[in-house]
Amino acid sequence: MQKEKRARIAILGAGTIGGALARALAPEWPVMATRRELKKARPLEGLGVLLSADNTEAAAWADIILLSVKPRQVVPVLQEIAPFTDGKPVISFAAAISLDIMNRAAPGTHFIRAMTNTAVEIRKGYTVYACSGQVTEAERKLAEAIMEHAGEIQPVDESHLDVLTAMSGSGPAYLYTVVESLIYGALRMGLPRDLALRSAAHTLIGASELLLASGKHPAELRDSVVTPGGVTIEGLYELEEGRVRTAFMKAVCAASTQARKLAEEARVQAEEAIRPPFGADACVMPSRSQSN
Ligand SMILES: NC(=O)c1ccc[n+]([C@@H]2O[C@H](COP(=O)([O-])OP(=O)(O)OC[C@H]3O[C@@H](n4cnc5c(N)ncnc54)[C@H](OP(=O)(O)O)[C@@H]3O)[C@@H](O)[C@H]2O)c1
Repeated sequence: MQKEKRARIAILGAGTIGGALARALAPEWPVMATRRELKKARPLEGLGVLLSADNTEAAAWADIILLSVKPRQVVPVLQEIAPFTDGKPVISFAAAISLDIMNRAAPGTHFIRAMTNTAVEIRKGYTVYACSGQVTEAERKLAEAIMEHAGEIQPVDESHLDVLTAMSGSGPAYLYTVVESLIYGALRMGLPRDLALRSAAHTLIGASELLLASGKHPAELRDSVVTPGGVTIEGLYELEEGRVRTAFMKAVCAASTQARKLAEEARVQAEEAIRPPFGADACVMPSRSQSN
């Protein structure tokens, strides 16, 4: 389909994730991106992305909106664009902000809550998402086509999204730590820098792809490369002494706990922003039928 005939996508908050999504989607879809410091988004123009500092302009223009501002900014931005989002699909990539909070900030909007990672930039993201009840079949399909263009997608129960923030969202940081450690080990042993980096990164890709393709448990695949008195067992022994598996488990638990804590703080903050002014309810007199 011609790009001009496809759904128009607004990306509100063209920072790390919003910018990465814009770069992935712009070759195929008409995209308008916003941020307040517009000059920082100028490089996107070269990819055909329209820029605006006005969220309402982008929301009015778009058929579907991708929200990638920081969690703290989600409710104010939703309240700002609410006049233009009634009956429109909005995918939020913000951590911690629930469908319930978004529904109350901009009632009538059809929300999808997603979590992804920076690999969307090269269309290798892993995006998990949950739809609110208002999302139509056609909107879900459109949202899936957009998210799938940027990598793998997986519908999930919303209750899993805080832990998945620690896995999909934060995961690249943990895996870069693994790659960096392997590189430094190789450097200690005198391997050239570029060879160390390529060897670590390609090994990570190959191991991941084999894991998915084989359907085997990682422990089985690991055991298949261990030979008695061999090379790999020496490395694994050091990892066990360093309690690496415990450290990774603790990392996921700590990040998930933090995601849940932020979700709770966001809920309290959003309640404040959404709540009507003190006393507003008291001015509404019950009708005769209501009081009966
Ligand atoms: N980074 C990740 O790896 C990752 C992964 C998954 C999900 N996320 C989620 O993605 C969201 C963004 O994270 P990020 O790391 O991309 O943050 P970021 O780089 O700070 O991007 C947020 C962008 O929002 C813009 N912004 C702030 N207020 C705005 C407003 N009122 N209207 C329009 N734009 C506004 C900021 O630009 P200006 O200051 O110029 O306005 C900034 O460029 C977060 O909610 C996060 O939970 C991030």
